[in-house]
Formats: sequence, C-alpha cells, structure tokens
Amino acid sequence: MAIKIRKLEKKDKAALTEILQNTPEFNAGEVIIAEEVIDGSLDNTNKSGYYSLAAENEEEVFIGFISYGPVPMTQYAWDIYWLSVKREFQGHGTGAALLKAAEEKIAQAGGRMAFIETSGKAQYDKTRRFYVNNDYKEICNIPDFYAPGDAKIIYQKILG
Ligand SMILES: CC(C)(COP(=O)(O)OP(=O)(O)OC[C@H]1O[C@@H](n2cnc3c(N)ncnc32)[C@H](O)[C@@H]1OP(=O)(O)O)[C@@H](O)C(=O)NCCC(=O)NCCS
Repeated sequence: MAIKIRKLEKKDKAALTEILQNTPEFNAGEVIIAEEVIDGSLDNTNKSGYYSLAAENEEEVFIGFISYGPVPMTQYAWDIYWLSVKREFQGHGTGAALLKAAEEKIAQAGGRMAFIETSGKAQYDKTRRFYVNNDYKEICNIPDFYAPGDAKIIYQKILG
C-alpha cells in the first residue's frame, strides 16, 4: 500500500474525528483531549506547540494521523501525543510511516529525543509492541498511575 504523509489540514477534521470515535483503545475523555491537541495543531500560528501529520492512501483517503510537540522547559525533548490509524488500514505500515515522519520533523526542529506515554492495560498490548518494534525503549513504568491496576508506561527513542 502506497502511503503519503503530509501536514494535517482542517478538511481532515471530520474523518479524523470518525477515526478517534472508532478507536476502541480511546475512551470518551481521551477523544476530547485528543481533539484539543489536534485543534491546536490546526491553528497555523503554532502558538499551541502542537503539530500534526496526516496519512493518506493511494486514493488520497485520509487513514491516520500523528500529533506531537516540544516538551516545554526542555532543550530537545519532544512528546508524541496521539497516533491512530483507521482500523481497516492497520497492519500495513501506516503507523510506522507516521512515526518516522514525525521523528524526522522533530529532528529537523532540533529535537533529540522522543517520548511516548501509554497505558499498561491489556487492550494496549498491540500498541506497546508497535512502539518496541519501532525502536522505542521502555524507560519508566508507574504502577496504578491512571487507575488501580492501570500503569503509565513511558517509552523513549534517541533520535539521530
Ligand atoms: C498503534 C497503531 C497506530 C499502529 O498503526 P499501524 O498502521 O497498524 O502500524 P504498522 O502497520 O506500522 O505496524 C503494525 C503491525 O503491522 C506490521 N506490518 C507493517 N507493515 C506491514 C505490511 N506491509 N504487511 C503486513 N504487516 C505489516 C508491523 O510489523 C506491525 O507488527 P507488530 O504489531 O507486531 O509491531 C494502530 O494500531 C492504532 O491506531 N491503534 C489504536 C490507537 C492507539 O493505540 N494509538 C496509540 C496510542 S496514542
């Protein structure tokens, strides 16, 4: 599958919201927060400090996105906030292509390390494996962070 990565645009918002709402890993509260980050990145002034990229297939259909930004008060640490690929298009390299494109943009902007946080719950098994397979290293595991039995796991990748 040929995948094109480009800047996220306002015209993508409806398709993006549909992806968020149909991603079983995200609960209603997470969808609201994700939309705030995405709306911030769509404001072309860059005031929010959030950036987003879109993936589309060979028919130019929007199939996924990634949002990221510099960590305030650090010299070169960047966070990857949200990453999601439409369910029927998962497993064809789109997630990896989005991650790689974001890492390149971060490095071009002077970033030297990328961080991703996720939950330790079983429903995120596939997501955590995806990060490890894309060279992210688990550097922190905080038990019961999100809720009893739901740890926060932090992954890091040194860029360049
Ligand atoms: C995590 C997520 C973004 C990955 O996206 P994806 O497009 O499926 O990712 P890829 O296709 O690059 O990789 C997924 C798997 O497909 C495999 N794959 C990659 N290219 C492939 C191809 N051409 N053919 C077959 N399999 C392929 C990869 O090896 C990978 O295997 P793994 O799960 O054992 O690591 C996606 O599963 C998703 O949206 N999940 C729900 C939301 C979520 O958890 N987001 C992250 C938290 S914000």
